[in-house]
Amino acid sequence: MNVTISGSTLPKSGVLILLAVEGAKLLASAKSVDDATGGGVAAAIKAAGFKGKSGQVLDMVAPQGVGLSRIFVVGLGGAKSLKVQALETAAGNMVARANAQRIKQVAIAADPIADSDIADADIAAHLAMGAMLAAYRFDGYQTKLKPDQKPSLSKVAVHTKAMAAAKRKWDVLSAIAQGVYLARDLVNEPPNILYPASYAKRCRALTSHGLKVEVLGEKQMEKLGMGSLLGVGQGSVRESQLVIMRWDGGAPKTKPIAFVGKGVTFDTGGISLKPGAGMEDMKGDMGGSAAVTGTMLALAARKARVNAVGVIGLVENMPDAGAQRPGDIVTSMSGQTIEIQNTDAEGRLVLADALWYTQDRFKPKFMIDLATLTGAILVALGEEHAGLFSDNDKLSEQLLEAGKATGETLWRLPMGEAYDKLIKSKFADMRNIGGRNAGSITAAQFLARFTNGVPWAHLDIAGTAWQSGSKPTSPSWGTGWGVRLLDRLVADNFER
Ligand code: BES
Ligand code: MN
Ligand code: ZN
Repeated sequence: MNVTISGSTLPKSGVLILLAVEGAKLLASAKSVDDATGGGVAAAIKAAGFKGKSGQVLDMVAPQGVGLSRIFVVGLGGAKSLKVQALETAAGNMVARANAQRIKQVAIAADPIADSDIADADIAAHLAMGAMLAAYRFDGYQTKLKPDQKPSLSKVAVHTKAMAAAKRKWDVLSAIAQGVYLARDLVNEPPNILYPASYAKRCRALTSHGLKVEVLGEKQMEKLGMGSLLGVGQGSVRESQLVIMRWDGGAPKTKPIAFVGKGVTFDTGGISLKPGAGMEDMKGDMGGSAAVTGTMLALAARKARVNAVGVIGLVENMPDAGAQRPGDIVTSMSGQTIEIQNTDAEGRLVLADALWYTQDRFKPKFMIDLATLTGAILVALGEEHAGLFSDNDKLSEQLLEAGKATGETLWRLPMGEAYDKLIKSKFADMRNIGGRNAGSITAAQFLARFTNGVPWAHLDIAGTAWQSGSKPTSPSWGTGWGVRLLDRLVADNFER
């Protein structure tokens, strides 16, 4: 879909979307349209009992006195507490409505909102963002869709007085939306199409955006001693891959920041086989890596002034004759040995080597890993928050703030010695599971052993990488969760 920022002159025909805040006070454009309709807008508002509450929409068909075919007045709720997410949601809802009513093109009047903290340019840019995120589709495999089952809306023009500033902001936000789209695509793709090598190929294509991309295969990982990651992939006919993406937008020779992602392109559980029901969801077990890849694209597309590396471990966890067994002991790149007690606790095994490699090679300022790591985090936090685990209070605070700002929210959970004890092994340096309790925490304790003291945070996104329902600005199964969070973390704290 084409989303553009335009000047404040509103179109004289077609579909126009006007904004209203609670109390149904008309904003500037609405007032002028109301005048042109001879008070028609105000009369319709009164007759319909429209109050400007969030989610409320007034639909005026063929209004008198103007050439417009339709006017929507969209409620945003109270102006004082208005957040950019509410604007994105409102625009997203209007995209869905326009498609349902087979509308091809809309104009949105992004008027200044008195009493709100949101700058005029931000109002316009976030309306554009909401529309863009809502327009995402993953329907390439549906060959029988009739034209009227496909989206009708192909163009959204956001009109604002603050056109120049809004355009600059939209340039940035649309780069982020590109990253979100990529992450959603990667999560939604089926596992016979997206497997480690084909995934790595998609990453390689990102060089066209200015990223440097390297791909390590199994031979190279063997040389590096990555027995932990390789053990997970050894039951699959698909070759495991480690992809390293770099964006050098910061001062030359300054330490990069690093993102590390779990990229299990399909998780059967391995020999510790998962039950069949719902197993198809495990195509999304690469959601952490998708967030990392999407973030790297976003940073490149908006030319972020930061040096960043993204490292993703791509494997398929399958149970064939060559698969690793419970009881196997593997040696990780760090030299630490791991007793495999459950082959379904594979994400941490992939991340162990990916984290170690990242700190060893790049000596980053910090590492943040993202992973659909444990079912236990869904039990604890549902789909509303991702779990945050960290040895660093400052980094945690920065992440929590970025979460609030973007709506990709986090909840910090504890770590410590007492939990760490639970992954002791009789035979090796550690085992890859704890007991029944505190499953998300023992998984984090396991990862902490591979950070080598580099400031680190782990985001368990098993509850947020894909969703059971859909949201106005996140219509597909894969959410692309994490791209906006990480981009914001960078923008607010780590750009020169
Ligand atoms: N990929 C799963 C975690 C998961 C479960 C993600 C449900 C999303 C939804 C992970 O590899 C896994 O299987 N974890 C096990 C760990 C256990 C064996 C210690 C789990 O959570 O059951
Ligand atoms: Mn698993
Ligand atoms: Zn998994």
